[in-house]
Amino acid sequence: HRTAVILVAAGSGTRLGYGIPKALVPLAGRSLLEHALDGLATGCPDARVIVVLPEGNAELEGICSRHRSRPVTCTGGATRNDSVRAGLARLEPGTEFVLVHDAARALTPPAVFERVADALSAGAEAVIPVLPVIDTIKSVQPASAGIGEGIVSSTVDRAVLRAVQTPQGFNAASLAAAHAAVSSWKPERAEKVTDDAMLMEMNGITVFTVHGSALGLKVTTKMDLLLAEALVANGYE
Ligand code: CTP
Ligand code: MG
Repeated sequence: HRTAVILVAAGSGTRLGYGIPKALVPLAGRSLLEHALDGLATGCPDARVIVVLPEGNAELEGICSRHRSRPVTCTGGATRNDSVRAGLARLEPGTEFVLVHDAARALTPPAVFERVADALSAGAEAVIPVLPVIDTIKSVQPASAGIGEGIVSSTVDRAVLRAVQTPQGFNAASLAAAHAAVSSWKPERAEKVTDDAMLMEMNGITVFTVHGSALGLKVTTKMDLLLAEALVANGYE
């Protein structure tokens, strides 16, 4: 396999509040993990699929073993970074490209995987799907007068801002090297790394962007799940 996809699904889903791993939470009668696997199997049909799961979850293992993408599975860690690293440890030697995707972005359309994979084939060392920012964004600092929640220090120029999604695509060796370095950092420093592309930025690697999709929303809260249900019910899948 020239390409691998690491699907990180080892989170606990605390904010969703179902009391089960988020990847198992049903969306229109099927687990978030199944939805996510379907999209990536269609978008990257020739990739080797690595699914990173919570420790000892037979149900999630079963979903993987039955899926047409025939994924290999491994156990994740305490943070998303740890889980990505666990997935990277399962790369086959010689893998050229790796895509890292959140199982929580269960409705990401195959076209987004294709755009990311195409950018890698065209020579990008790192590529992320993005969307324009709709809201006006302001920088705020703590208030002193006891009024409200803080005071505006500036309005950020929205035209240059993008909201970032997954799958994020990388040269496999570059991403593995960046993650190997992080594993020796102090936790305070490692915690500030919010996505894989940020590691590449820190290493001076150019990160390209391609168009994401509104369907690539991350199911984080109950409201996100309600929206995802409505999207599926209206045929957006
Ligand atoms: N993830 C992971 N391992 C972790 C934490 C997160 O594989 N230790 C994965 C999640 O399964 C998810 C993605 O990273 O697909 C994005 O994480 P998030 O949306 O924060 O999911 P959870 O961590 O499960 O949710 P919460 O933070 O509410 O507990
Ligand atoms: Mg989390």
